Amino acid sequence: MVLGLLTLAFAGLAAAFLTDSWGYPAPRPQIPLVDKALLDPATVRRSYRDLIKAKEDLSDFDCYGCHEKGHPPPLRYDENHKLIVPTEHSDVVMGHGTHGRNNNCFNCHNENNLTTLQPRDGRELRLEDSTELCGSCHGPTYRDWDSGAHGRINGYWNTKLGPAVKKDCVNCHNPHSPRFPGRKPLPGPHPLRAPGVSEPTAETTSH
Ligand code: HEC
Ligand code: HEC
Ligand code: HEC
Ligand code: HEC
Repeated sequence: MVLGLLTLAFAGLAAAFLTDSWGYPAPRPQIPLVDKALLDPATVRRSYRDLIKAKEDLSDFDCYGCHEKGHPPPLRYDENHKLIVPTEHSDVVMGHGTHGRNNNCFNCHNENNLTTLQPRDGRELRLEDSTELCGSCHGPTYRDWDSGAHGRINGYWNTKLGPAVKKDCVNCHNPHSPRFPGRKPLPGPHPLRAPGVSEPTAETTSH
């Protein structure tokens, strides 16, 4: 008797499922996959070192293609003692420090050999060694960078597989206006339920 009733009940349920008596829940909206741009491991800027490696156009760096050797270009200022950047260098937008205190070109470029950099201690550095230049004024940040707490290390943890490369300061900061540009925030987590379906509230779950 009991078995007979159970068999009937299950057969009824099977029929109900087969004929889809309850209908399907509304399909969940597709959640888009992660924006591919967020997975790009490249830094925000390509340095002179990167451009050499990629064999790209280096004409901006060919200082003596326009300047004359032995004649350092004169620095010109407006009446508020603000540096005037000539139109030939319109890609150089100065804004280093809150009050433009480090806007003098020759704080960094060597006026007697434009193709090199010159920190205040008088060393001459190649353009691709600009991190040493930054370190000459930003000592604490340079120490953090050297120990791996500031900036980024690319490559391998296991040095047997390949080198670990510390990205240069200029891979992230434009030397002329070094404030780090803002970035798009990452998307929030996927919701547990499709939007529109009410979530259990603290009221109903706490009892
Ligand atoms: C396309 C040509 C061109 C190239 C390449 C070029 N310069 Fe210049 N630069 C100029 C001109 C033109 C001026 C304005 C000269 C003047 O006022 O007498 C100038 C001015 C300057 C000044 C003075 C800026 C000021 O605010 O008064 C500096 C410093 C300078 N250049 C550095 C460099 C360095 C360093 C390089 C290489 C990394 C370089 N230039 C490459 C054309 C060029
Ligand atoms: C001659 C010294 C000097 C050199 C060289 C130098 N800086 Fe600076 N930097 C300063 C000063 C001064 C400030 C302004 C600090 C302030 O306003 O409190 C500054 C500010 C900054 C800031 C903070 C953002 C801002 O604009 O206030 C960053 C980032 C920075 N520098 C990065 C660099 C990088 C990268 C290099 C190498 C390409 C570099 N600096 C080379 C002197 C220097
Ligand atoms: C804080 C140091 C610093 C100051 C100040 C500075 N530069 Fe530079 N500049 C650099 C570094 C470092 C590079 C090479 C960056 C790289 O590897 O991408 C560079 C690159 C350049 C280049 C070649 C690339 C380009 O963007 O065209 C020119 C031209 C140039 N600087 C001109 C100037 C002029 C003109 C001034 C003054 C108005 C100036 N710089 C002030 C550090 C500085
Ligand atoms: C991988 C990218 C990256 C590299 C490489 C990097 N920085 Fe930064 N730096 C940042 C970011 C991001 C900030 C934070 C910007 C903010 O909070 O607005 C920052 C902030 C700074 C500041 C602002 C003051 C502070 O400490 O908060 C200075 C100065 C600075 N960096 C200098 C340097 C110097 C010098 C180097 C090279 C020795 C370097 N950075 C290398 C990404 C980098």
